[in-house]
Amino acid sequence: MTNPIRAFIFDLDGVITDTAEFHFLAWKQLADEEDISFTREDNEQLRGVSRRESLNRMLKGRPIEEATAQAWMERKNIYYKKLLHQITPEHALPGVPAFLTAARSAGLKLGLGSASKNAAEVLERLELTRAFDAVGDGYSVVNSKPAPDLFVWVAGALGVPPNEAVVFEDAEAGIDAALAGGFWSVGIGTSTIGHAHMTAPGVGSLTVQTVLERMR
Ligand code: BG6
Ligand code: MG
Repeated sequence: MTNPIRAFIFDLDGVITDTAEFHFLAWKQLADEEDISFTREDNEQLRGVSRRESLNRMLKGRPIEEATAQAWMERKNIYYKKLLHQITPEHALPGVPAFLTAARSAGLKLGLGSASKNAAEVLERLELTRAFDAVGDGYSVVNSKPAPDLFVWVAGALGVPPNEAVVFEDAEAGIDAALAGGFWSVGIGTSTIGHAHMTAPGVGSLTVQTVLERMR
């Protein structure tokens, strides 16, 4: 039996734009200042997870006072927000605006499901806010990826059940969340995303038709 796909739901960081690099640079600045070893390889573990979980993973089990944790997360966010000033519509990843337009023309509903509390600002800077029918971000649900809650929240806002929606994600936690929620999934990039229904180096290397044909 085939399901008619009625919606595409996109992660933001690493799928729509390369803010994954800015998150890395901001955590790296904090780590360097606090004398914590933190490499690009370590950063792969932070993809897609909340700010708090990112800090936990950066600390690799090292204990931290709650007040210090809050202060460090605030500092990281200040560094990150400074980097966001660079973002212009040219920072959408190659082929993304065209893919969104093609999906809309095909009659699909479009949603965004980002763990980031900065998602609205990033979308504004990319001039892509109006490209989406529903936006779920770091304020929408309590349990972040790999819990399915955020994608389920977005699907609900779109009025489409999970098994009629495709999630595009660059993070292992994001594909885990999509599969746990009963969504179809497309893994984007080179992280641990092999368990998705299909993978691609970037959204720009896909066509709407190819994705729809694979989700059955
Ligand atoms: C996700 C990113 O989209 O948002 C993570 O992939 C990030 O790297 C998380 O930690 C939370 O973002 P923010 O902007 O709320 O700190
Ligand atoms: Mg991501």
